[in-house]
Amino acid sequence: MDMAKVQPRSGEHNLTDIDVQREGFDWEEIKKDFSWYHTGKVNVAYEAIDRHAENPHKKDQVALLYSAPNREESVTFEQLSKQSNQTANILKKYGIGKSDRVFLFMPRTPEFYANFFGILKVGAIAGPLFEAFMEQAVRDRLADSEAMMLITTPELIHRVPVKELPALEKIILIGNSTDMKDEQYISYEEEIKEASEAFDIEWVDREDGMLIHYTSGSTGKPKGVYHAHNAMIQHYATGKWVLDLKEDDTYWCTADPGWVTGTSYGIFAPWLNGITNVIRGGRFSPESWYETLEKHQVTVWYTAPTALRKFVSAGDDIVSKYDLSNLRHLLSVGEPLNPEVITWGLRTLNLRIHDTWWMTETGAMLIVNVPSMEIRPGSMGKPIPGIEAAIIDHEGNKLPPNQMGNLAIKKGWPSMMRAIWNNPSKFDSYFIKDWYVSGDSAYMDEDGYFWFQGRLDDVINTSGERVGPFEVESKLIEHQAVSEAGVIGKPDPERGEIIKAFITLNPGYEASDELLEAIRQFVKTSLSAHAAPREIEIKDSIPKTRSGKIMRRLLKSWELGLPTGDTSTLEE
Ligand code: PRX
Repeated sequence: MDMAKVQPRSGEHNLTDIDVQREGFDWEEIKKDFSWYHTGKVNVAYEAIDRHAENPHKKDQVALLYSAPNREESVTFEQLSKQSNQTANILKKYGIGKSDRVFLFMPRTPEFYANFFGILKVGAIAGPLFEAFMEQAVRDRLADSEAMMLITTPELIHRVPVKELPALEKIILIGNSTDMKDEQYISYEEEIKEASEAFDIEWVDREDGMLIHYTSGSTGKPKGVYHAHNAMIQHYATGKWVLDLKEDDTYWCTADPGWVTGTSYGIFAPWLNGITNVIRGGRFSPESWYETLEKHQVTVWYTAPTALRKFVSAGDDIVSKYDLSNLRHLLSVGEPLNPEVITWGLRTLNLRIHDTWWMTETGAMLIVNVPSMEIRPGSMGKPIPGIEAAIIDHEGNKLPPNQMGNLAIKKGWPSMMRAIWNNPSKFDSYFIKDWYVSGDSAYMDEDGYFWFQGRLDDVINTSGERVGPFEVESKLIEHQAVSEAGVIGKPDPERGEIIKAFITLNPGYEASDELLEAIRQFVKTSLSAHAAPREIEIKDSIPKTRSGKIMRRLLKSWELGLPTGDTSTLEE
């Protein structure tokens, strides 16, 4: 593995390579920066917003710099504090309190952020849902979490099967609607007019619930990954160390708050550090993203390989049309960062791209590249201070350098998930001895750099979004034409992987392009667009084990023309 090394950036950094490697780090050092360390009163909404709103030097600083094709807005820390007090008052009025689940199913507008913090201010647990979810995906999540309240828009409410959700008491609709007759609905516009800008924040315990993000595994329905307020310690610290945030930075994280990157690093890390945070609505195109970087003079940018690969394909010429001279620090997450992309960054932007590795379950970054570190293109970097990472075998024994195995983290970091909602045995299944086991295969080199190799299970990573094959298969067989389905991730140069489905047809159905397209649309409109298979292939049968499990590994080998390996458990 003799890859070019990219030398450290010179200048001032918040964390040095020495810091990353040091032994004996104690999270206690970081805790001192929080007001609860001195007051004993905890709420992440206070630390991220109200604390700055109370500070005469910070209250008028822009917290949220919103930009969408039809709307531009700047919201200061003081304004965001008041707006979230108002939304907290509305929630409280309708009986929402500590530990209740309140879900947000709406586009990322300034109202999203005001409501998100309102939820936290009443001590409730926020559940942000990706805007592209369709009925089935919405139902699964709201039902499993037994959400009492949903905040959504008139456009999206049609995808919520309200009658099938007995725990759901009230729905706040943002925007005018004719659906308002039912007393289950609350008009946001009406309520906000009346709501006070003052609110007595609910103080919680650091171990109290803050957030649920649903994510996919290889079996079963999506799991509710449950995070506590305590995660703020690591959001704040990695914001400083890895995002390298400083007082006058303008920061942009491109992730949607329906995914964990969009909350941990689209909300908490920047605002806990008191930074101006750019939120961009609307769709992706290289031009519109370059425009956003230029217009807001973004200094620190956190994005994903799938977007970066599109920039690479769009060509170097486009970059030169924009003034990106303010950009000083660039980071990536969600998928392997291709060495070619790093080369592109150096060539066109004269910037290193810093890869970061973590998961929904880990709550915050764990393995990273910081500005003072040499980057080894293709490697995810090294663990942050306070984190012990290792490659382990099935029994939880550490493997020596350069041996592939399961990437594992020693239990007990601040932002680790606290539970899988409603599913303690699933939670337990993540651990071997003292190790949290990621399910990613990787190896560590002699110098402690980690190198990602792939997933050990069947989880698909398409454009940085995690899709569980089981969920897609279940949806496929709901289509009247489909008898059986097996779903795999197929390597794709731009998206990392695409979803490929193998199906068998029910009697009476003939293979045709129209039928395949209809099946694809069915998944797209009832589950979600990102989970719809890009390719569907009809087979005479789907390979299964004797116990009836779909052998996705075999489907994948066939697809890629690889040796099929051990097929002794294959059904006759
Ligand atoms: O397989 C790894 C991949 O994304 C998975 C986690 O997905 P999710 O929970 O949706 O969180 C994504 C953003 C935090 C991991 O198990 N992954 C994440 N970061 C990287 C990565 N694969 C390679 N390199 C990375 N930097």
